[in-house]
Amino acid sequence: MIAPELLEELISRAKVAYGQAYVPYSHYPVGAAVLFSSGKIYSGCNVENASYGLTVCAERNAIFQAVAQGERELKAIVIAVPSDVFPSPCGACRQVIREFAVDCPVLLMNGQGQIRWTSLKALLPEAFGPEFL
Ligand code: THU
Repeated sequence: MIAPELLEELISRAKVAYGQAYVPYSHYPVGAAVLFSSGKIYSGCNVENASYGLTVCAERNAIFQAVAQGERELKAIVIAVPSDVFPSPCGACRQVIREFAVDCPVLLMNGQGQIRWTSLKALLPEAFGPEFL
């Protein structure tokens, strides 16, 4: 259970983040905000590249910001887009989320402010994780 003020902050940070997205090719901005065990929130946007395959998603950028600050335990993630269709994290991002959470709540938000709750376990069942090694 995430405190309502924290949830509001996560949503607001994800929305600010999609405003910073660098998306000259897809024109599909995405923002992500992640809550880690320290209680701190980190955010990220998608950053595209003329060499398309080098694009990095919002979710991974947010998580890597946190990890670079010493965080290791992901508690929740909010993914927001300004468009009507709900976002859905790509397979690579699901696996990166799994690296830092066995399970965690995932909140998806569209540009109309509608929300959909899901979880990492629902998005990536029977996941491979660090404990296999
Ligand atoms: N993208 C994200 O940032 N996160 C997602 O959850 C799905 C896809 C980005 C990558 C690329 O910049 C654009 O959306 C279109 O694929």
